[in-house]
Amino acid sequence: MGPDHPQKEVYYESKHGIAFLAFKDKLNMDSSKWIVGEDYSAAPTCATCHMSAVAGRPGTDEEPPIRALPVTHDVGMRISWNNRPAISVRPEDSDRKMGLPGADVDWRTRRANMKSVCLNCHESQWVDNFYVQYDSLIELYHRKFAKPGLELYDLAKPLMRPVNFANKLDFIWFELWHHEGRRARHGASMMGPDYTHWHGTYEIAMHFYIKFVPELEHLIEKGKTSGDPQKIAAAEALAAKLDEVLNSEDHRWYLGRMDPAEQERRKQAAEEFRKRYEK
Ligand code: HEC
Ligand code: HEC
Repeated sequence: MGPDHPQKEVYYESKHGIAFLAFKDKLNMDSSKWIVGEDYSAAPTCATCHMSAVAGRPGTDEEPPIRALPVTHDVGMRISWNNRPAISVRPEDSDRKMGLPGADVDWRTRRANMKSVCLNCHESQWVDNFYVQYDSLIELYHRKFAKPGLELYDLAKPLMRPVNFANKLDFIWFELWHHEGRRARHGASMMGPDYTHWHGTYEIAMHFYIKFVPELEHLIEKGKTSGDPQKIAAAEALAAKLDEVLNSEDHRWYLGRMDPAEQERRKQAAEEFRKRYEK
């Protein structure tokens, strides 16, 4: 729980957590084997998805087979993204860095494991659609904010005090990826729409535009007028990158340069929305 990994909060706002609270007494929790699909199907808990055993089942014409899984205490074995760093990585890569045996377990295997859990309660198309949405959120966050944000932050370093967290920009960037950026990704990974959007992407965007960019502009201005040739060069490099980022497809609306066709599409969508809900 908390601002940087709110899984408990995400779960309780998701339909899974709501169903758990509503149907706790129907989950057969006294069963010692407690296998999803056999002992219960009304709602999954944290353990259902991340740890508990799953019974296997052969495939049918419509549905793929379900692979049987034993109980595990290695909670990384059903997770296909590690969303802790500023830019998400595959779990086998972080396991390799830490010298863990999980280095040999590809993210596709881990995702297939998790799908075996979901398939006890949902059709495969429902589950596949979930993963399309989840991956799309990660990709959007990477492309629009995390990758350019990290590049800009690194270019700003020569213009700041050398000690980490002695600068305003250190805190702004830290909260962007470590709080809001994680909340958006964690919210999407466990079906918590409020955490994905209002505590996630909304806050990332707001702080990127009203805190991060203005602070970069301030550092550029200070560097350019410092009289120090090294700082002037660093300020110019940062200014060029900021210019490139803000003029990219994702951000040029901010400069009032949105593609006119896109602007028109959004205007129409807004009108349709208004018409539908005006009544
Ligand atoms: C419906 C199944 C489901 C339930 C219930 C569930 N999770 Fe998850 N959880 C997931 C999925 C799916 C992911 C993302 C997996 C991936 O990256 O492929 C995830 C990711 C995570 C992560 C990984 C964070 C990271 O590094 O990205 C943590 C920690 C976590 N869950 C904890 C919990 C806790 C604690 C609970 C209960 C409060 C819980 N989960 C309930 C399915 C579930
Ligand atoms: C024990 C059964 C169970 C398991 C396991 C389970 N779910 Fe669910 N899931 C439900 C129930 C019940 C609902 C609520 C359905 C309703 O009332 O609309 C639900 C709802 C959902 C929703 C809709 C969320 C929304 O806000 O509308 C998604 C998406 C979803 N599940 C995906 C998954 C994925 C992905 C997994 C595996 C990681 C999974 N579920 C595992 C029972 C389960």
